[in-house]
Amino acid sequence: EKGGYAHFMLKEIFEQPQTIFDSLRGRLDAKKGTLTMGGIREYAETLSNAKRIIIVACGTSWHAGLVAEYMIEELCRIPVEVEYASEFRYRNPVVGPGDVIIAISQSGETADTLVAIEAAKEKGAIILGVCNVVGSSIARLSHAGAYTHAGPEIGVASTKAFTAQLAVLCLVGLKIAAEKGSITTQRFQHLLDELDQVPEKVATALKLDDQVQKVAAKYKDARDFLYLGRGYNFPVALEGALKLKEISYIHAEGYPAAEMKHGPIALVDENLPVVIVATKDSYYEKVVSNIQEIKARKGKVIAVVTEGDQTIPPMADDVIFVPSADELVAPIISVIPLQLLAYHIGVMKGFDVDKPRNLAKSVTVE
Ligand code: M6R
Repeated sequence: EKGGYAHFMLKEIFEQPQTIFDSLRGRLDAKKGTLTMGGIREYAETLSNAKRIIIVACGTSWHAGLVAEYMIEELCRIPVEVEYASEFRYRNPVVGPGDVIIAISQSGETADTLVAIEAAKEKGAIILGVCNVVGSSIARLSHAGAYTHAGPEIGVASTKAFTAQLAVLCLVGLKIAAEKGSITTQRFQHLLDELDQVPEKVATALKLDDQVQKVAAKYKDARDFLYLGRGYNFPVALEGALKLKEISYIHAEGYPAAEMKHGPIALVDENLPVVIVATKDSYYEKVVSNIQEIKARKGKVIAVVTEGDQTIPPMADDVIFVPSADELVAPIISVIPLQLLAYHIGVMKGFDVDKPRNLAKSVTVE
């Protein structure tokens, strides 16, 4: 049942080229330059006329929502807010007709997310569900939907559901942008091509497994980890830190890299591994400065960089090269080594990575 893998988590990490492909299949046709989203067709106009979009989710799905915020604002020029479902629900939110809520949930059963959208729906908002489990409560409650086709996710730590969410949310953003006319034909076609290439690039990134395992062995006894990224890779830093916490019980914090100087830099010393997602994008130069700031304080830098990068490698203690990609889809690739890092550290420490302590796969209590 684990297909020859030691754990479901590893199997699911390695399934990602296929599960991302499955989430794009039948929707994206890069050759023809078309995008079909059956589950939102009826609401395409409503979505493109939205005054604002509010994304509600928890945990890893919330991280996918943060990436979607950047994607949708850039592609559609619609203001997007990303909310922890539990916080959104309990503060009597200002929401009503004209608002679109995107609920992201692997299980489709997360109680916090479910009650949040129930409340918003009652107030007249349109709900778009991005769920993995077909026929789940959140999917049923939604007006429109776009399923992720990641297949059953057994490992408590979400991996393949996350990358499928990113792929589908990018499709949703592109669809709304096309409907709205807020994207040029060239950019639209370019992003279809970029998405089309993601499964192959993820397969390339998975070949880094041995290398990531060595990095894991080197840092597995650290007491704390810091994860940093900017822009599209800022939520990837949060996700990397969450994976490590869940699986290895090592304290880890994710931060937008520029926030470091507003506090967390006080933690940096020669014992602190700092994982920095520093792929070539519009934030690259700024991230290079952040790496210099960490090295000046003797932190250990583990950098995830784009293949061919020659600037960061001499500055970093460990370097992981990932295939180059447009910054919009880069998180789907840059998260792969972080999933593997958490997995290997968890296994090396002797923990049950498929069933981390105190956690349930689906959190059906508020
Ligand atoms: O099923 P959902 O996507 O709604 O679940 C949300 C969170 O409970 C979930 O992502 C959780 O944070 C995972 N354990 C993360 O690995």
